[in-house]
Amino acid sequence: MTIEATDARRMGPLIPALAVPAAAWKERAASDAAIGGHAMRVESLSAWYGNHLAVHDITLDIKPRAVTAIIGPSGCGKSTLVRCLNRMHEVTPGAPRVSGRVLLDRHDIYAPGVDPVQVRRHVGMVFQKPNPFPSMSIYDNVVAGLKLTKAPSKAVLDETVERCLRQAALWDEVKDKLKQSGVSLSGGQQQRLCIARALAMAPRVLLMDEPCSALDPIATYKIEALITELKREYTIAIVTHNMQQASRVSDFTAFLLAADDRIGRLVEYGETAELFTAPKDERTEAYITGRFG
Ligand SMILES: Nc1ncnc2c1ncn2[C@@H]1O[C@H](COP(=O)(O)OP(=O)(O)O)[C@@H](O)[C@H]1O
Ligand SMILES: [Mg+2]
Repeated sequence: MTIEATDARRMGPLIPALAVPAAAWKERAASDAAIGGHAMRVESLSAWYGNHLAVHDITLDIKPRAVTAIIGPSGCGKSTLVRCLNRMHEVTPGAPRVSGRVLLDRHDIYAPGVDPVQVRRHVGMVFQKPNPFPSMSIYDNVVAGLKLTKAPSKAVLDETVERCLRQAALWDEVKDKLKQSGVSLSGGQQQRLCIARALAMAPRVLLMDEPCSALDPIATYKIEALITELKREYTIAIVTHNMQQASRVSDFTAFLLAADDRIGRLVEYGETAELFTAPKDERTEAYITGRFG
């Protein structure tokens, strides 16, 4: 029997509320008021592979504690753009180059002296294909990054594993088999494990590049529900070629398009509800009504 996404929706919420003690919420609410969550601003960003200009002059905001969707046809530069947001573009094969600014909480992550490794710690990334470390257990996958940065005590590791797996809505499914290999899990569980691994680094921003494209409808539904939970605490940017997904999970949407010159440009950016119901640009309208792409 196959269960369609719509059936999955009818099954009701699968994701338990985040297990955060009331005192922690209160503290967080107070600090939210002070900092307003973490935000990114992309200013006049261009990125090349060798001589090929892949994205040109992109300016947009990734607003705090909200989901920003990046949509557009294949090859328009969505992955390139998100990889520029945590300085992964520069380690992508193909002689990459970037110009412009990317501000994280008003600090340019491309400023001289900024360590890209630190940037990637603050701006986490989840990829299309779940990529748990194959030789590691579920437990070790979650804390792999944490162990590289410091030497935490077992108590801290245990606490982090439970908290992050709960946040990733995976704890109940794996709590009795934490020592099993991460790759023994189903695809959807592996993707939630990768989300838990990213959360363990306490990122300010979480980037996701088509995180559901390798998953079935039920697993996709779980990730979408999870994203909706996570935005209470995290600033999220998600690349998706699935417009229903963008309209379901995101608050803001950026539509990219490459014309015949194969250069990706931002066509329209705005509130998701508005962009999907009353697009300002006729190319956006053509795309969201399925006339191309
Ligand atoms: N590693 C690479 N080397 C050279 N060109 C690349 C590389 N990755 C992507 N490109 C090119 O950059 C453009 C944008 O690609 P990409 O960001 O992957 O688009 P999308 O994610 O929207 O499908 C395309 O023309 C693609 O061929
Ligand atoms: Mg891509």
